[in-house]
Amino acid sequence: MIDETTGALPVEGMPAARVLDEIRALRAADRPTHGGRLFAYVYDPGVAGLDELAQAAYAESAHVNGLDPTAFPSLLAMENALVGAAARLLGGGPGTSAPDVVGSVTSGGTESLILAVKAARDARPDLAEPRIVVPVSGHAAFAKAAHYLRVALDPVPVDPVTLRPAAADVAAAIRPETVLVVASAPSYAHGVIDPVAEIAAVAAAAGVRCHVDACFGGWTLPWLRRLGAPVPPFDFAVPGVTSISVDLHKYAYAPKGVSVLLHRDPGLRAPQFFAYADWPGYTMVNPVIASTRSGGPIAAAYATLRHLGEDGYLRLAAVTRDAVAGLADAVRAVDGLRLLAEPESTVVCFTADDPGLDLFVLVDELTARGWHTQPQLAYAGLPASVHLTVTAAVAPRVAEFGPALAEAAAAARAAGPVVLPPELLALAGSLTPEALTSDLIGGLAAGLGLGAGPAPDRMAAVNTLLQAAPVRLRERLLVEFVGLLQRPTW
Ligand SMILES: Cc1ncc(COP(=O)(O)O)c(C=O)c1O
Repeated sequence: MIDETTGALPVEGMPAARVLDEIRALRAADRPTHGGRLFAYVYDPGVAGLDELAQAAYAESAHVNGLDPTAFPSLLAMENALVGAAARLLGGGPGTSAPDVVGSVTSGGTESLILAVKAARDARPDLAEPRIVVPVSGHAAFAKAAHYLRVALDPVPVDPVTLRPAAADVAAAIRPETVLVVASAPSYAHGVIDPVAEIAAVAAAAGVRCHVDACFGGWTLPWLRRLGAPVPPFDFAVPGVTSISVDLHKYAYAPKGVSVLLHRDPGLRAPQFFAYADWPGYTMVNPVIASTRSGGPIAAAYATLRHLGEDGYLRLAAVTRDAVAGLADAVRAVDGLRLLAEPESTVVCFTADDPGLDLFVLVDELTARGWHTQPQLAYAGLPASVHLTVTAAVAPRVAEFGPALAEAAAAARAAGPVVLPPELLALAGSLTPEALTSDLIGGLAAGLGLGAGPAPDRMAAVNTLLQAAPVRLRERLLVEFVGLLQRPTW
């Protein structure tokens, strides 16, 4: 394990094999990235040999620097090829209604969304207080973008049944200062596709950009449609859609660190760039947020796409679609559980209708059985839910999941709902973030088993407490709890 006296830097360098052993020992505590039992964070196609290929490609370009595309044309060529593939998949390119699509490769969905907001903001330097319109089901990265870029966020509610925003509500939220309207295809939380055509139409009517966040679904929906699924229009074929993001490190099954941000034409992309020549160093132009960028993730993504090809992605989408159907059936088969939305992409999201069946306890019971799902807190009239991101590697596990879910539900029922001390619940409901002292946080964290070291096996009490807290207090508690984890190893 890590040497407690030196952190990462020993006085004397260590043999390579020992260092790798150390990392492997640390990795043993991680959630399983492969094998189809982790329903968030990782995207596993379960294709033999793909990891090795991606790793070799990564190693080939790890030290190449994306800072200057003229110095490393290999990287530029691979980036352009990735952008071309994404654009073609999403209704752009020669022979389409969006022949001039351009794009950039970013480090992930969040960076793509921040840059979409930046491009929209900087296209309107005349506005002192720019704003963006985002359905509440839109990814939290839009709020982060708004925060970083000092853009005001106008949230639009979603229908409690369809979990979609209404285009009329989006239209009503658009103001003269609005620079961007957002739609998701699909939303991460529930996996539902927003009415993109209607939203893009109201944005276009107001002369406002419309970004489709297809970070999650941009690399699955086109294949699912080819397989016959009724996927509504969501890409550049829709008039008024000005930009689209798609993450290659999600359903393109590339290693982490690659997303693509596409714009309908170069003029829309231009304000995304940052150039600076007013200093004595090298003249700088950055299409994306990072300056120095490793070529590793880009080469790995390039290798992954080339190796899998259209036929590979189509096959993986079919396998994933069948896994989604099997998991949804498993949920339907358990009394007291209900699908929050009928799956229309690659998410299965369910809630519990029975007060005796505590979803957070259920999640812990699943974890105890080796199934790692993602709890989502109740929010704005929407119930707490469990999110499953389904990838191709899940398919061989589906038959085991059903009985495990039933068993976990029975165990959760038997254990009963989490009961926090009433004074703690009252505190969570009434405390303001400003009133939180470090003593209070330390006491709370200790009581919940949080602090330095790995998170406790059972998180139901933590989730129940967070759920009882108003949103701003939730945020503050999360910051404090993670702050406790991020402490240097001396
Ligand atoms: C719809 C959507 N947008 C944006 C993001 C953010 O992507 P990242 O975690 O790569 O920054 C995600 C991540 O799950 C997502 O599902």
